[in-house]
Amino acid sequence: MKHTDIKKLFDGSLVGSDVTVCGWVRTCRDSKNMAFVELNDGTTLNHLQVVIDKSVTSGFESCTALGCAIKAEGTLVAAAKGAGVEINAKKLTLLGDCPPDYPMQKKRHTMEYLRTIPHLRVRTNTFNAMLRVRSVLSYAIHRYFQQNDYVYVHTPIITGSDCEGAGEVFRVTTHDWNYAAKSQKEYFDKDFFGQFASLTVSGQLEGEMAAMAMGKIYTFGPTFRAENSNTTRHAAEFWQIEPEVAFAELPDIIEIAEELIKYIINAVLTECPEEIKFFDERFEKGLEAKLRRVVESEFKVLDYTDAVEILKKSGKTFVYPVEWGCDLQTEHERYLTEEVFNKPVFVTNYPKDIKAFYMKQNPDGKTVAATDLLVPGIGEIIGCSEREVDADKLAQAMEQRGIKVAEYENYMALRKFGACPHSGFGLGLERILLYVTGLGNIRDVQLFPRTVGDLK
Ligand code: 4AD
Ligand code: MG
Repeated sequence: MKHTDIKKLFDGSLVGSDVTVCGWVRTCRDSKNMAFVELNDGTTLNHLQVVIDKSVTSGFESCTALGCAIKAEGTLVAAAKGAGVEINAKKLTLLGDCPPDYPMQKKRHTMEYLRTIPHLRVRTNTFNAMLRVRSVLSYAIHRYFQQNDYVYVHTPIITGSDCEGAGEVFRVTTHDWNYAAKSQKEYFDKDFFGQFASLTVSGQLEGEMAAMAMGKIYTFGPTFRAENSNTTRHAAEFWQIEPEVAFAELPDIIEIAEELIKYIINAVLTECPEEIKFFDERFEKGLEAKLRRVVESEFKVLDYTDAVEILKKSGKTFVYPVEWGCDLQTEHERYLTEEVFNKPVFVTNYPKDIKAFYMKQNPDGKTVAATDLLVPGIGEIIGCSEREVDADKLAQAMEQRGIKVAEYENYMALRKFGACPHSGFGLGLERILLYVTGLGNIRDVQLFPRTVGDLK
């Protein structure tokens, strides 16, 4: 079936030619002698108008139901009204019929309802635009790293370690549901890997090992967290981009993170202008201007201790009171990014007790060389740190958190064999996607979201 993408027709170069297009019927206006079908094939947000002259177009009778898949053959012409093109159809062919109980008949469904039909919501303009932005963003991320000589590594999905040490892992087992072990040891000894296994929460630990040979690496893959947080920002399965850079200290990695964010936002502005316009009109007024400001602005770098002072002096009553040592809550992050700085903010040097074991301890004995990048409207999109390379300090930090050093033998060995300063970060793909689309819920930037109690 030789056919042309609808996107290609809109560049105008085929006006006057006979073309064949395929797609799904989005709308149909029917009158006595004429009918007008809007066709979308997913290659662009724009629908192609198929003009049906009932005395000329063959096969049109079966091709006007909403949702049906059709092939249209005809002549491409400049649109009779407005800019753009349309097709004067000579022949329509039904490829797949669609009965009247098609749920996408209504012009506008709520996002909540659409979540109940993930297999069909992709046919809305919103998902058409979101998936294209997601794709362009992903490619831009790869391009940024490839152009800067990073090596793309694939870290394992199944691991025996918990990188974040938060105990929020999904276990991997082949035991039957009623497997009765006499002890924990027997349970794991007899399991597939002969030990505890889980889905990875982060590729960082293996990424660090690769960086200790390849210098600059990045991962880009799915990560899994069994967090019981039913929020608009947390998913049980989400994609993370994790660069790891040898010989980089905290200020170096902050520079890289800022450059990456600006590069990818600029790529989306350049390559998805229609999608951004759509999201600006429908989901976040001023979105495009916001994104342009981000590309041009200098991100704020703010010490955690100063952030706490600003919050304490704010005169605001927060649900979670602020004291030095507390973890910043969404309300605090939003106050800093939205009300004080109105731009992305790197909060640096967090108290060591609220952060992960692998972060480099600062000479003050209280804080770690870590940063979170916070953005208005979302909160944290990046978690970043310089890594602890002092084996004793690292072992001590693990022990304090109840992590068994013996299980991290390979990771510890990196501190022995040619250790060097190195840093990295994790960017949540869905979080940045929420930021660039203005969509409000992580469930709407994934094809099939996985969240607590929901696996469609
Ligand atoms: O801050 P996190 O936990 O950092 C790490 O995993 C480090 N190992 C990264 C590194 O240094 N290589 O997670 C990184 C980012 C967060 O900033 C957030 O954007 C995203 O991953 N993230 C989530 N996104 C969606 N749903 C969740 N449940 C997420 N948890 C983290
Ligand atoms: Mg974090």
